[in-house]
Amino acid sequence: MSFSEDLSDAEIATYLARYLGRADQVFGAAAPPIYQTSTHTFENWDALSNAFDDRINTPFYGRQLNPTVQLAEQVLARLAGAERARLFGSGMAAITAALLASLKTGDHLVAVNGIYGPAGRFLSSWLPQKAGVTTSFVSAMDCDAFVQACTSRTRVIYLETPSSGHFELQDIAGIAEAVKDRDIRIIVDNTWATPLRQRPLALGAHLEIHSASKYLGGHSDLIAGVLLGNAELIEAITNDEAELLGARLAPQDAWLLLRGLRTLPLRLDAHERNGLIVAEWLAAHAKVSRVSHPGLASHPQHELAKRQMSGSSSLFSFALASEDLAAVKRFFNALQLFGRGVSWGGHESLIFAPAISAIKEQSAERFKAMGFSISDMRISVGLEHPEDLIADLEQALQAL
Ligand SMILES: Cc1ncc(COP(=O)(O)O)c(C=O)c1O
Repeated sequence: MSFSEDLSDAEIATYLARYLGRADQVFGAAAPPIYQTSTHTFENWDALSNAFDDRINTPFYGRQLNPTVQLAEQVLARLAGAERARLFGSGMAAITAALLASLKTGDHLVAVNGIYGPAGRFLSSWLPQKAGVTTSFVSAMDCDAFVQACTSRTRVIYLETPSSGHFELQDIAGIAEAVKDRDIRIIVDNTWATPLRQRPLALGAHLEIHSASKYLGGHSDLIAGVLLGNAELIEAITNDEAELLGARLAPQDAWLLLRGLRTLPLRLDAHERNGLIVAEWLAAHAKVSRVSHPGLASHPQHELAKRQMSGSSSLFSFALASEDLAAVKRFFNALQLFGRGVSWGGHESLIFAPAISAIKEQSAERFKAMGFSISDMRISVGLEHPEDLIADLEQALQAL
């Protein structure tokens, strides 16, 4: 179900540049003001009482609603075709709020393998140990596996498509259709594709999540998360998980997010173009044994990618043709342009090796069982010229 009319690419570009014509009412400022306030005051008893009655829309205390945060929420809801958006202090705060709002003790959830690490840990450790919720993890590649894993207690199917671990896709519409008559909420982490490339709510999902710390913010200067869905659901989460757990976004960060969103279509086009150029170059290189990028025809789910998304972004993985840790480190350390670090979706290109964190957190066997190897590299292709990035990768591959 789509909540609002679908916007064309042209409408999105103009809308983001002008924020629906909403400018500062007093001075006509071209950039929206930052309402750096914790509280709001009212004329009299009735006005304050009315604010409480309409607490979803009327700011009276910063943890509940701030006008700058509200503006960013309106823009994001419009982009995703959602009735409502609610911003949180991080993507993880949005994920945990969505899951805590959807599950109670005794419930079961089905999740896809290979999701973002801390989200996976919340599902596999925190929820069972502290809330009595059990989770079954299933393979992304098999649509039927999600349905078969559901029991009478299943209340949530949690997807991340493409998954940020292995870049595997899940068929959102197929899964939604298969469980449409059951009391199961479908939650999709849509961070990789952004609302410009994939529309989970229109495909049958109930809640869409983004870490806005990635492409939505886009400048590596912000940690934020957003939940998108119908008004009833987002209002319930606003009154409970957002209000009670309190992990709301601050106004300065909402302003940075608004600033990033203005150029999202331009940035994403450049990320997509650069990402594909670099991925195709790596796929043809003798010292690279595999490239996993849903936008490449060699990706096993490329047909689903074309059907479900209108394009791609620029986070993907590849494997070096050597399993020797010393050689892999030589390649990694030889890079000069790529930043070595976590996160993705910003203006700058970054590289990370899953083995760096996994070696500390789990056994070599578990790492392998999760489908990773020491030679796996994950890169986020930024806005640099792709020829410069390729030159950097080439000289580092020579060090392998
Ligand atoms: C796919 C995905 N979802 C969610 C998150 C969590 O977002 P945040 O870091 O904003 O809490 C991340 C962070 O890297 C991510 O990669």
